[in-house]
Amino acid sequence: MFKIDDIIFDQHIPELNQEMVTGVVGAMDSEISLLRDAMQVLHTETVAGMVFYQGYIHSHPLVLVRCGVGKVNAAVCAQTLILRYGVERVINIGVAGALDRHVNLGDIIISTDTVQHDFDLGGLSLAEGEPAQGAIRADPELRQKALRAARKVAANVQVFEGRICSGDQFIAGHAKKQAIVERHGGLCCEMEGAAVAQTCSLNEVPFVIIRAVSDKADDSGKVSFSAFADAVARRSAAIVIDMLENFHN
Ligand code: ADE
Repeated sequence: MFKIDDIIFDQHIPELNQEMVTGVVGAMDSEISLLRDAMQVLHTETVAGMVFYQGYIHSHPLVLVRCGVGKVNAAVCAQTLILRYGVERVINIGVAGALDRHVNLGDIIISTDTVQHDFDLGGLSLAEGEPAQGAIRADPELRQKALRAARKVAANVQVFEGRICSGDQFIAGHAKKQAIVERHGGLCCEMEGAAVAQTCSLNEVPFVIIRAVSDKADDSGKVSFSAFADAVARRSAAIVIDMLENFHN
């Protein structure tokens, strides 16, 4: 008789030889490829259909993974990073649509906190404006490190700190965008950050979300995303490379 663990987890995981292993998650290949190319990969393993790359950048141990689009993928991925690979911090990178009018294409957003804009218990008659679920705060130290790296690596664009709103929807229209802004505020929208945040929070693992803006989440959103997402995605990855260089375990 075999146990479920034997089926899923039948491979040996090589020990990364330092304590503070960092998990880095992006939804799409374009969001992680720069890091994968920079990484000395020791081992790869597929869990839940996601390829986890274990290795080093700048002698810093990390596990890098593409989770696929959306909050369920992101949550499964973050939980796997924590339980299976024992990561002690998680960084979520990628692109986002701007919600705030001061945010331009290519700008960088570092999360202060995250909300799920599509999590709605309104049918249970919560008071209007009351958040259905509290915002989840990012780790102050990771935020600070991300901010410093972003200002260095992306010196020619604006770098903001603020709320990131996540949902299982690509936002590409004025009305929907306005509804999110009115309910939650926030600097940008994307589709994974709040799920990574909630998973990390449940497990008491520090996290930060770093996003580069690919579109304005309005009527021009789809065209802009197609034109810019691949190029700007590399910016959030470059920030992580700089952060890793400056992590002292
Ligand atoms: N990721 C990048 N742009 C986005 C948008 N407009 N909506 C949701 N996720 C995004």
